[in-house]
Amino acid sequence: MSPDFQAVLDDIATTLQPECGMAGQVASYIPALARVPAAQFGIALRTCKGEEALAGDATTPFSIQSISKLFTLTLAMRRMGEDLWDRIGREPSGNPFNSLVQLENEQGKPRNPFINAGAIAVADRLVSLGNARADVLAFLSDLAGELVDFDEEVAASEAETGFRNVALANFMKSFGKIDNAVAEVLDLYFHQCAVRMNCVQLARAAGFLSRDGAHPVHRRKQVTTERQARRINALMLTCGTYDAAGDVAFSIGLPCKSGVGGGIVAVVPDHLTLCVWSPALDATGNSLLGLKALELFVAKTGLSVF
Ligand code: DON
Repeated sequence: MSPDFQAVLDDIATTLQPECGMAGQVASYIPALARVPAAQFGIALRTCKGEEALAGDATTPFSIQSISKLFTLTLAMRRMGEDLWDRIGREPSGNPFNSLVQLENEQGKPRNPFINAGAIAVADRLVSLGNARADVLAFLSDLAGELVDFDEEVAASEAETGFRNVALANFMKSFGKIDNAVAEVLDLYFHQCAVRMNCVQLARAAGFLSRDGAHPVHRRKQVTTERQARRINALMLTCGTYDAAGDVAFSIGLPCKSGVGGGIVAVVPDHLTLCVWSPALDATGNSLLGLKALELFVAKTGLSVF
């Protein structure tokens, strides 16, 4: 018998309420994110059968940031198949998400699609395929079942302060690993980071990852093949939470993808997809209460991939 998920989420929100906004830091290196009030917490899930549960600020939109890397990777895998991996690796980096150090020794091939260099390389592939910004929005809106949009203020703020991303893109280009103009590739990257969505929309949108690639709402429509969905989950588990991925696998045991906006998407294959959001981050750039909430969820339900 499946647990009463609404009761589980209510319980998690109540347990964490006293800690909300008390510890961690809101991302401050992008001015438009630094203004987000820290004392917010939302959690939502959607089961494979379409049952939904939500608690706290689950319908408040936030900047999805690096969670977007999950969806651009999915788009690129759908459209390019195995060729994608000529330019991007599948190993955890063990370094911060915006690090440049490995790229030099590894000839401009990023370790994985979830660090910034890897996501910029994926963005380059999507720019080559054409119509990329519109495709990303259409893809996310279709999966979420609601129209989603870019926050242009956040996108502009990213562009004004994204010096490291400019460096990463130029460095990869110097190795011949970026085909398009750096400005065009970064325009897509900054915009994908600046998509605004809420926990409910993200739990739905990533629903295909707990359904062997089947569309979150239309069962007969495949978003990816079953094999691709499993591979994306494998990458989330090993690389989805920056250089905390080992610890997250140890303490939570679910494929996760986080963003510096404070969101984390987590997948329980064949059961459900979850999204938790709280803007204050720990030292690794992951949502402090988000990780606590996922630990509580796993403890209360016993759901884990291990
Ligand atoms: O590239 C950046 O700085 C952000 N826009 C993305 C940050 C993020 O969530 C962390 N990335 N893995």
